[in-house]
Amino acid sequence: MYYDMVYEDYTKRETRFLHAVVKQYGKDFAESWKILEPACGSGRLLESLAQCGHTVHGFDRNRNQVSYAKKRLKKLSVKTKVWQDSLQDFKIEKAGSYDLTHCFVTTFKYLLKEKDAVASLKLMSQALRPGGLCLIGLHLTNYKDNPADYEKWVNRRDDVKVVSETWSEPAKIKQRTEAMRTRMTITEKGKTRVEETLWDFRTYSAAELKSLLAKIKTLELVACHDFHYNIRQKRKLNDAYTDIILVLKKK
Ligand SMILES: C[S@@+](CC[C@H](N)C(=O)[O-])C[C@H]1O[C@@H](n2cnc3c(N)ncnc32)[C@H](O)[C@@H]1O
Repeated sequence: MYYDMVYEDYTKRETRFLHAVVKQYGKDFAESWKILEPACGSGRLLESLAQCGHTVHGFDRNRNQVSYAKKRLKKLSVKTKVWQDSLQDFKIEKAGSYDLTHCFVTTFKYLLKEKDAVASLKLMSQALRPGGLCLIGLHLTNYKDNPADYEKWVNRRDDVKVVSETWSEPAKIKQRTEAMRTRMTITEKGKTRVEETLWDFRTYSAAELKSLLAKIKTLELVACHDFHYNIRQKRKLNDAYTDIILVLKKK
């Protein structure tokens, strides 16, 4: 719930953006789509897209996230599927049956090995029907201009206040990792508690991302956008701008 509060605005923007993307690049889509969200977390986007009338399936490696997502979708009384699985080795009920698969907020960078990133993209591609779309949103690293970074979000709902802070260390170029830390400060009914998480992300320059994509012969890059989620604003896959959303189409 606290995570969802932080991402509340993004959820609305990403949902609108996905509809704009399908209108722009998915000419053969029906009104209702079958969607797969790998690493769906709390299910905030599963819920939002189910509310738009789509069939949503999602998985996450974290059991707590899976049960939270399941619970929230149950309330909608729509047919959904959420299970525990991993990005690099997931199983789906029917290959070639999904219209759309998406993986936002840099989640793809949790895959620290190239072979896992390749495996994951291949599995996403196998899940899609020809003409289906795969969207990946991640933060690129410009190794020539690579300072430590800090971001902060504050959100309030009723008597709950959540402050979310994220630090990223400069990339370790040889290892292709960046150390990440988030701190969530939650104040509820006058009491404050702090939750911290530390992890590593794999880093990608534009060239490294292009080289990864070249290994997935069944997906074609049709456009790039950024975290402003503006369909009219296209980006090039280069190091000039670090937030990138890849729009890939199944051949
Ligand atoms: C930042 S959250 C994003 C969740 C969701 N996609 C969203 O946009 O709200 C990242 C999620 O990725 C999951 N995750 C990280 N590595 C994973 C892996 N190898 N396989 C499956 N899930 C993974 C975590 O458990 C977490 O729920």
